[in-house]
Amino acid sequence: MHAMEDLIAAALAEHLPLEPEELADLLETPPSPEMGDYGLPCFTLAPRLRRAPRQIAAELQGSVALPAGVRAARAEGPYLNFFLDRSETIRRVLTGITQEGPAPADEGDNADRTVVIEFSSPNISKHLGVHHLPGTVIGMSLCRIFRALGYRAVSLNYLGDWGTSHGRLIAAIERYGVEDPHALTVSELQDLYVRYSTEAEDEPEMQQQARDAFRRLEQGDPGTRQVWEAFREVSLREFERVYDRLGVEFDRYTPESLYVDRKDELMERLRRQGLAQQSEGALIVALDEHDLPPCMVLKSDGATLYATRDIPAAEDRWERYRFEKALYVVGNEQSLYFQQLKAVLAKMGHHWADRIVHVNFGLIKFLDAETGNARVGSTRSGDMLLLEDVLQEAVQRARAKIEDNRNRFEDGADLDELAEKVGIGAVIFRELSTRRTRDVVFDWERMLDFEGDTGPYVQYAHARLCSILRKAGEDASLEVDFSRLSLPEEWTLVRHLEGFAHALHRATADYEPSAVATYLLDLCADFSAYYSAGMREPERRVLCQDGEVRAARLLLVDAIRRVIRSGLELLGVAAPERM
Ligand code: ARG
Repeated sequence: MHAMEDLIAAALAEHLPLEPEELADLLETPPSPEMGDYGLPCFTLAPRLRRAPRQIAAELQGSVALPAGVRAARAEGPYLNFFLDRSETIRRVLTGITQEGPAPADEGDNADRTVVIEFSSPNISKHLGVHHLPGTVIGMSLCRIFRALGYRAVSLNYLGDWGTSHGRLIAAIERYGVEDPHALTVSELQDLYVRYSTEAEDEPEMQQQARDAFRRLEQGDPGTRQVWEAFREVSLREFERVYDRLGVEFDRYTPESLYVDRKDELMERLRRQGLAQQSEGALIVALDEHDLPPCMVLKSDGATLYATRDIPAAEDRWERYRFEKALYVVGNEQSLYFQQLKAVLAKMGHHWADRIVHVNFGLIKFLDAETGNARVGSTRSGDMLLLEDVLQEAVQRARAKIEDNRNRFEDGADLDELAEKVGIGAVIFRELSTRRTRDVVFDWERMLDFEGDTGPYVQYAHARLCSILRKAGEDASLEVDFSRLSLPEEWTLVRHLEGFAHALHRATADYEPSAVATYLLDLCADFSAYYSAGMREPERRVLCQDGEVRAARLLLVDAIRRVIRSGLELLGVAAPERM
């Protein structure tokens, strides 16, 4: 199945000195359907063809061969507008969605394109905070969207499990006689850490003991390693509980500690290449020619740093996956660091360094109902807001909201299950409907508004579509007369459905799941308009009297349902069938 843009572009390419891909990108959708369904703005071609835009449009009108499904091409000033054969287009779009699924099935050629996506990557022995939410849901969603387009997408969690703080925790376990560190919780680990740090303020030998413990860990002492491994196990137990709730899964955990051993070999290579230089006892790679501050690769005490582990980790990803892109979904605050990392890799001669993309994102802030100000996600006392608590609050609020509006919801839906899906869905959708680099303000009232630009609004539209299909008492069938879908709203909906593939392409091109969220909001708005018109006028109702019209409309409704469901799934938002 080829998108209509591609067919039109191919026909135009016969008469123009441009590649079909370029032409497909140039095609626009005219502002209103009466003006056509696709438009080629000829003024962009004028300088290259050395002719006036109007003339180009007129000449093309005379020469271009219309592909199947296109009824006419008409020059309109500097535009060449194409008019689709509506009932043929409707047939093609609805049949495609029903038989091949909402995501385009023509993407088999992406199968050998690998995208490695690292995301979430929390530090162990600490709770997941609300600041882990954006990366976690952006990364997971990108992974799903790439897969929907046929790519091989590998999801990695680069756990932060290395650093001197672990020496302190190990020393605390030893000092306070914790018998079985595996039985601890993350909260207990955090408490132990605080207790030790507080006591150590007055006891210099405790500082030394913590350093010694980290040294033992670095040297691979088996007993020490076992204790540290317990930290990872305890942390993962908690992380996975939250990931499950968010529907997040990783193909692999590749913790930082995997790369500590490569330190000596890496330093040797950097020296040999003449890249590393001493600076106050530490080793740095100068990046002047990239206009960047130097990247420190080894501490003066010989310990590894963030970059010391990230360099071999990147090399490992390349060796293993030969990626087309390696995405690092990490907050805006690490932008400089990722520029440095890429620059160091490039200086080391890795041609694939420019395939690394820092997929950055902004902060989550919360609207304070009293002051009306947005604050970065922390409690009033300044503690970090825990992700699990935020999810819990969302579910509770969703539940209250559903109970308050009981009359709007169908009977028979399980309230607990629905509150979970709506609450978590509202959080994920709120995050993913904003362009990722921007900060997101969480305003509980707005996020859970069933009439706003929210997850619950899209979920509700989906449930309404399901309910129409249930009420119909017959299955949607492809054996319909497509010409019976003749309302302008129906044409708008079909065109919109056709645009789903485009939204997925934009999402992958810009690493921007918000393209999918925005698409869904627009589609739901069009559906709502259609639905409301049906409430006012019985002939416009989906379940109208005329059996043939009703059958065709049911197929349309079913296709919208499929696309919304698929879009929500790609975002990681549940699509309940009853609400
Ligand atoms: N663990 C780090 C942190 O919490 C994030 C890791 C980002 N990924 C990377 N390859 N450096 O800040």
